[in-house]
Amino acid sequence: MSGLEGVVAAQTVLSEVDGLAGRLIIRGHALDELAGRWSFEEAAGLLLAGFFPDLPDDLAPALGAARVRVFEQVAHLDANLARAPVEAIRALVARLADRDDLEIGLNLIAAPAVFTGAVLRVSTGKAPIAPDAKLGHAADSLRMMRGQAATRAQAAALDTYLVTVCDHGLNASTFAARVVASTQAGLTSAVLAGISALKGPLHGGAPGPVIDMLDAIGAPTNARVWLAEALDRGERLMGFGHRIYRVRDPRADALKAAVRDLALQEEAVCGRIALAEAVEGAALAEAVEGAALAILRERKPDRPLETNVEFYTALLLEALGFPPSAFTCVFAMGRTAGWVAHAREQVAGGRLIRPQSAYVGPPPRVAA
Ligand code: COA
Repeated sequence: MSGLEGVVAAQTVLSEVDGLAGRLIIRGHALDELAGRWSFEEAAGLLLAGFFPDLPDDLAPALGAARVRVFEQVAHLDANLARAPVEAIRALVARLADRDDLEIGLNLIAAPAVFTGAVLRVSTGKAPIAPDAKLGHAADSLRMMRGQAATRAQAAALDTYLVTVCDHGLNASTFAARVVASTQAGLTSAVLAGISALKGPLHGGAPGPVIDMLDAIGAPTNARVWLAEALDRGERLMGFGHRIYRVRDPRADALKAAVRDLALQEEAVCGRIALAEAVEGAALAEAVEGAALAILRERKPDRPLETNVEFYTALLLEALGFPPSAFTCVFAMGRTAGWVAHAREQVAGGRLIRPQSAYVGPPPRVAA
């Protein structure tokens, strides 16, 4: 019972995680049909279909307009708040109206992209950049962060990431969002619960530590000794293991391919230096991945521990220029589409989520 492992707590049409086959299905599409092919707007539209009567066929203009609407909250950002990116976007999301309709749903899906760019700029003393509603969501997210247009390859890589993480069964943050939605508190409250759960290193907070680990290892030849010492200290290797997947996380492969595509396409634009760095980083990551899988198999022979989504997330987001402190915010950019869809599904069909606990404390004292 610990961790509710194996407990089915909701019925959903949104996604299925098959941990034995290593398969993720999002509304009838295998992940590899979507990742690298669909834009984030298309994937968000797929998730939201049927949950809002006024949902437009093409979500891109509506999401662009939502980015413009939520940008006004950026005025409430200061350098102090911006120092902790996840807390900052949570604080700004908390300022949004809390209703249960399409406008609020789109505001919430737009918000992490707008707020992440602004938080990163304000934290380094730069002015926030207003959204451009005409751009695609991924391209505009990168432009708002960097102050210059993203290349087509960079926008495509971010689209791949956002689509890859947009929904994933009843993970901890989605469950938290559904619990709050089941009380009819409103979509903003549900998304705030999702962000709070996502923040933890056992859920969405792992990719930052993956970069720390790769930096600390430094070169492929150091991998085995470094990893063995970390396990000897009782630490977990970030980017490995999963509650549901007993084989390789299919999202890891989608992101590994995106890292490789980005490196190759950026070569054409940036020249050999960028490629050399990217190839070196990818070689280190692949060496660390191989060493980690081997050592985990030796140390935990009874527990299949494979690469999870966070390992290649770290490489991809770093290549796109996001600092590790903002990786969880970028995860929220994609996953908010799933949280909003799950919240609507919960409200439409579900009852209040109210399980029971087994009391294991002392019996009441009986008066003598
Ligand atoms: N490194 C080393 N050991 C690991 C491990 C890891 N990444 N993940 C799990 N284990 C070990 C545990 O120590 C435990 O060993 P024990 O039985 O000897 O105590 C065993 O595997 C089972 O772990 P458990 O905590 O029951 O698994 P879980 O299903 O609750 O955990 C995660 C799932 C994701 C929380 C866990 O694998 C983890 O902490 N991974 C690292 C963080 C990470 O990458 N998070 C992103 C998830 S997408």
